[in-house]
Amino acid sequence: MLELREVHAAYGHVTALRGVSLEVRAGEIVALLGANGAGKSTTLRLVSGLVHPAQGAVTFEGRPIHRLPPEAIIRLGIAHVPEGRRVFPGLTVRENMRLGAVIRRDAIGIAADMDRMLALFPDLRRLERALGWTLSGGQQQMLAIARGLMARPRLLLMDEPSLGLAPILVQSVFRTVEQINREFGTTVLLVEQNASMALGIAARGYVLETGRVVLAGAAGELLRDPEVREAYLGGRRKERGAVDRNPAR
Ligand SMILES: Nc1ncnc2c1ncn2[C@@H]1O[C@H](COP(=O)(O)OP(=O)(O)OP(=O)(O)O)[C@@H](O)[C@H]1O
Ligand SMILES: [Mg+2]
Repeated sequence: MLELREVHAAYGHVTALRGVSLEVRAGEIVALLGANGAGKSTTLRLVSGLVHPAQGAVTFEGRPIHRLPPEAIIRLGIAHVPEGRRVFPGLTVRENMRLGAVIRRDAIGIAADMDRMLALFPDLRRLERALGWTLSGGQQQMLAIARGLMARPRLLLMDEPSLGLAPILVQSVFRTVEQINREFGTTVLLVEQNASMALGIAARGYVLETGRVVLAGAAGELLRDPEVREAYLGGRRKERGAVDRNPAR
């Protein structure tokens, strides 16, 4: 479904990806793991058209997409739930969700999907009219996912959905990702630093290190791999501002 072939990418003079090749097959959850600065977010930005490769190719369902703008890529069926959620603080939950569907014209389908999302996320139903900034970190993450799904993507790119959430919410985020994959048939490329949880729901995984894929394989194999265990399953977590400003409510 999605293929990256020998992709190089840079921000000015900062090289972020040095020849990344990976594949996501239809129906899979694929985990993309790696430490801070490894190039995980850049890989997702590259797929969603926010970054263009200096070299290499990205194909989606057999067609090259690496020169397309983000709007064109959303229309092809790829949605991106960005790192840090990016919920609009001054808009209501409903308005935030509706923004995910701006590329669509099918009012009836949009209304049906709104209902479907509110059924999937009961918290959001309860908070439909609440403003974005009043939501807890976990609720904002659910809203960001619901907004992504409102585009009806066939491929969902998720950037560290568990970041900064309390352990009980982390579990519920991973369960939700699994449920979306199973019930909606959405293919998922999941960036995570929580390697054990991500590999727990993924079919396969890739490990990035300074812009290169250093390990790839079936999720079960990676979970047992001594190198992965040492580097990523030892509880090493991100240090930066991982704060839930509005904890459990
Ligand atoms: N906007 C930017 N401008 C310049 N350099 C950037 C920018 N974004 C990322 N980089 C650099 O590109 C490299 C890859 O960054 P990227 O954000 O893809 O890593 P990551 O794996 O997502 O890390 P994290 O776990 O911290 O989110 C890093 O060296 C980073 O400093
Ligand atoms: Mg990142």
